[in-house]
Amino acid sequence: MDKTLVLLKPDAVKRGLCGEVLRRLERQGLRICGLKMLRLSRELAEKHYAEHRNRPFFRELVEFITSGPVVAAIIAGEDAIFRVRHLIGDTRAAAPGTIRGDFATSLTANIVHGSDSPESAVRELALFFPSGSDCG
Ligand code: RTP
Ligand code: MG
Repeated sequence: MDKTLVLLKPDAVKRGLCGEVLRRLERQGLRICGLKMLRLSRELAEKHYAEHRNRPFFRELVEFITSGPVVAAIIAGEDAIFRVRHLIGDTRAAAPGTIRGDFATSLTANIVHGSDSPESAVRELALFFPSGSDCG
């Protein structure tokens, strides 16, 4: 059983798409094992996206993710990390039927984050849910 971090980004919250995104995950048998709304501090945003700190888009990325509240979720299930990424869709060319393919409005305003590897999931879950999961 994998656990992965999903963030419903500020555009998802503003557009009322949180339920739709979580529904798509639950419909595939993935389970919510932690859920909270928060506004990321600049410090947390920079830690979360640390791998991108030297990229030209880093500033825009941090501005965006701190621009309004997000909903953070622990999503659990068999192959959850891979399956969530599949449901989210590609960063640059998300296919129709994926969450980004259906709802993203730009490369930055792309609705949702999912951890990209087991190592990222452990690191990111510790940042957002330091006291662990509610499902054991
Ligand atoms: P995320 O981390 O948010 O789940 O997105 P991702 O894995 O699909 O993409 P990643 O490469 O980790 O990039 C993080 C976010 O940065 C923005 N981005 N902008 N201007 C650019 O070339 C560019 N490349 C990436 C996207 O908003 C992406 O979600
Ligand atoms: Mg990423």
